[in-house]
Amino acid sequence: MKASVTAHKDFTIARIDDRVYSAFLEHLGRAIYSGIYEPGHPTADANGMRGDVAQLVRDLNIPFVRYPGGNFVSAYNWEDGVGPRENRPVRLDLAWHTSDSNQVGVHEFVDWCDLVGTKPMLAINLGSRGLDEARNFVEYVNGPTGSYWGDLRKKNGRADPFDCRLWCLGNEMDGPWQVGHKTADEYGRLANETAKTLRAFDKSLELVVCGSSNSDMKTYPEWERIVLEHSYESVDHISLHMYFGNRSGNTANYLALNEKLDRYITTVESTINLVKANKRSRHDVYISFDEWNVWYHSNEQDRAILAGAEGWPHAPRLLEDIYNFEDVLQVGCILNTFIRKSNVVKIACIAQLVNVIAPIMTEPGGAAWRQTIYYPYYFASIYGRGTALNLAVRSPGYDADIADNVPYIDIAGVHDEETGNLTFFAVNRHPNESFELDLALQGFGAARVIDHQVMTHADLRAVNNLANQTAVVPHKGTGASVEGARLTARLPPYSWQMIRVS
Ligand code: AHR
Repeated sequence: MKASVTAHKDFTIARIDDRVYSAFLEHLGRAIYSGIYEPGHPTADANGMRGDVAQLVRDLNIPFVRYPGGNFVSAYNWEDGVGPRENRPVRLDLAWHTSDSNQVGVHEFVDWCDLVGTKPMLAINLGSRGLDEARNFVEYVNGPTGSYWGDLRKKNGRADPFDCRLWCLGNEMDGPWQVGHKTADEYGRLANETAKTLRAFDKSLELVVCGSSNSDMKTYPEWERIVLEHSYESVDHISLHMYFGNRSGNTANYLALNEKLDRYITTVESTINLVKANKRSRHDVYISFDEWNVWYHSNEQDRAILAGAEGWPHAPRLLEDIYNFEDVLQVGCILNTFIRKSNVVKIACIAQLVNVIAPIMTEPGGAAWRQTIYYPYYFASIYGRGTALNLAVRSPGYDADIADNVPYIDIAGVHDEETGNLTFFAVNRHPNESFELDLALQGFGAARVIDHQVMTHADLRAVNNLANQTAVVPHKGTGASVEGARLTARLPPYSWQMIRVS
């Protein structure tokens, strides 16, 4: 079968914000404890941070990591995580029915961000708490010494402000499961007043207001409209979340789900524009897609863990999805969607980063390894930076539950204007047909293939685990070539690939 694509240097979508390759870490399960932090681990540094995990994270070149939640943040007291570790209280976590030793708090997290070359995106509790705690937290993190909170931070070991620029105003406040869940009007007013107050402290902060937890919520997309009617002028981004699963074992439907993601983004983009027009505003609000990933493999195991747990366990093995090869294709399609929506999606966070629905897994006292989905995320983060191209794509398609005529070939293109390099990420969703890709390169002067990485596997259910950490890995592709401004390549059935030309 054949897919024809045209890329033209002047047909662009937008400059891709590097922050779409961000990630998320929550005090949940083993993300923090025995994830990034494990004093006594053979690779741990003096602060107890695992060196093997830090290296795998560093390799990903992640712009921002969102922290500390998630549902966790909606009953979190940030003060519990500062000051001498021996004085920090153990608290019950109401979101995940566990307990937290608070041995990692904002100081340790920001130091870890420095260690792995990323920046913090901090979330504020607007569930059980409100405006006053929010302003105290921001002042503690960013305020000058010579004032109460800045001096307390200094006493706790850090004189210089942490200078965190990006803040989330709560988490999934539309969700009835959330501690302190609110109606859109209640939340919109609180978010706006909180944003105004934080801006009185520092008007240059970047603020993210909560949108819908997913596009199946009954309140979606009215939630977005109402929340933005309240807060439009005081915020910079509205957050969206979406998790993907193949519970019915239908690969064709599963791999079509980024059509739903695309529609979700487009609808919220329209809602932003509606509110902007209603307000006659010149201000722009963008989308922060700050939780996305595959999440379904561990659901049953989690029910069993929580049903069998006595009391409030510390760092149990919750949400430990073991990803398979099929999920590589899904993650590839999701990342392609963010590239194609780069005009409005300026931040996106893979949820999460370590152990909890994560590309990186660890064993306490033992190894850290890359899950299958690490690879499409890695290649997108490293090479998917530049300008998104508005590709003209002609590919046969198939009908799925979510949409008709879903193209078998899902492709995104990125032009790095500094180097002149072009990078294409393509997924072949066809179960048994190879595609001949014929890609016209107009106006680039590209002459040769500089890299071709392929992920394909005979078994969609193949996984990487502690015993076999490299069952699903990328391989160098062969046969891709550029001749007379045409890139040609063979895309095998059920495959992900990255082709780079220069
Ligand atoms: O990432 C896991 C959970 O998913 C987060 O805590 C919550 O925000 C979302 O529902």
